[in-house]
Amino acid sequence: MATGWRPWPPLILFYGLIVILIEVCWALKEVRITVPPVARSGDTVTLSCEYDLEEVALYSIKWYRGDEEFYRYIPKESPPFRAFPVNHVNVDLSKSGPTEVTLRGVRRELTGDYKCEVSADAPLFHTDIKTAYMIVAELPNDNPILRTEPTSKVEIGQKVKAECYSPGSDPPANISWYINDDRILTSDLNIRLWPLQIESDPAIGLKSSKSKLEIEAIRSFFMSGFMRIRCEASIFSLWQRHVDVTIKEDNQLQLAPIMGPSQSHTDQVIEIIRNDARLNRIFVCNIIVNTLCVILFLR
Ligand SMILES: *[C@@H]1O[C@H](CO)[C@@H](O)[C@H](O)[C@H]1NC(C)=O
Repeated sequence: MATGWRPWPPLILFYGLIVILIEVCWALKEVRITVPPVARSGDTVTLSCEYDLEEVALYSIKWYRGDEEFYRYIPKESPPFRAFPVNHVNVDLSKSGPTEVTLRGVRRELTGDYKCEVSADAPLFHTDIKTAYMIVAELPNDNPILRTEPTSKVEIGQKVKAECYSPGSDPPANISWYINDDRILTSDLNIRLWPLQIESDPAIGLKSSKSKLEIEAIRSFFMSGFMRIRCEASIFSLWQRHVDVTIKEDNQLQLAPIMGPSQSHTDQVIEIIRNDARLNRIFVCNIIVNTLCVILFLR
């Protein structure tokens, strides 16, 4: 069967070994690209590319935004560098060279992949390319706005509606909520949190965020006599602003001051319901166990 193939495998192995040897001896070791993962619109950013050519000289280093080359450095040429026109890319030639390239006044259109391609000189022109992603964010030009209803006072057991809005940015801001010092991550018994709403303005390409929260005023939120609702808008680690609204407990109906931290009426009701549920479970379990015992016993 296929005896004609016999001499081939050793030969392939031999060539394979040679190729591996060449790769190992002359390979470009570890091309490493470093790009700020996030930058703000208008920033000057430096992208760097490190490589170890071992014994071989550098032939070229090329920088791409997506698939478009915007900067090239070839030591043998004079001058060794060249910049190519690419939309929104503004290379600072005085701060660019064999291992880095500096971009002035980056804009959000420059969000995307950046590639650095390093080629070693003759005889092999071994080439390696590495990619990194950069987000250029357009920050909101204003603080978030927080509105609550009611605005300043609430009776225990009533609801407070809060809405927070962060004006246009790209990407849209994240919104976090705090009651007093506790971060609100999800809805629970007394709090309802709506998913973040994002609205785009196609004319300017920016996105605003809106978040809604409904809080049932329970006594434990008013330990210090008032409840602080905080809305915090943020864009990565680049930008963060918060706004607070303080709501007092409206206790005009209370005749006597409350002594110490006591449960509110609704809390107690919920506690009773919970206990009921637990008792019901125990009751059902008992019935099942008893029935099983009776069946076993009768057999
Ligand atoms: C929003 O929060 C998510 C989850 O923490 C995070 O992955 C994302 O990068 C944040 N976006 C912005 C614009 O800050």
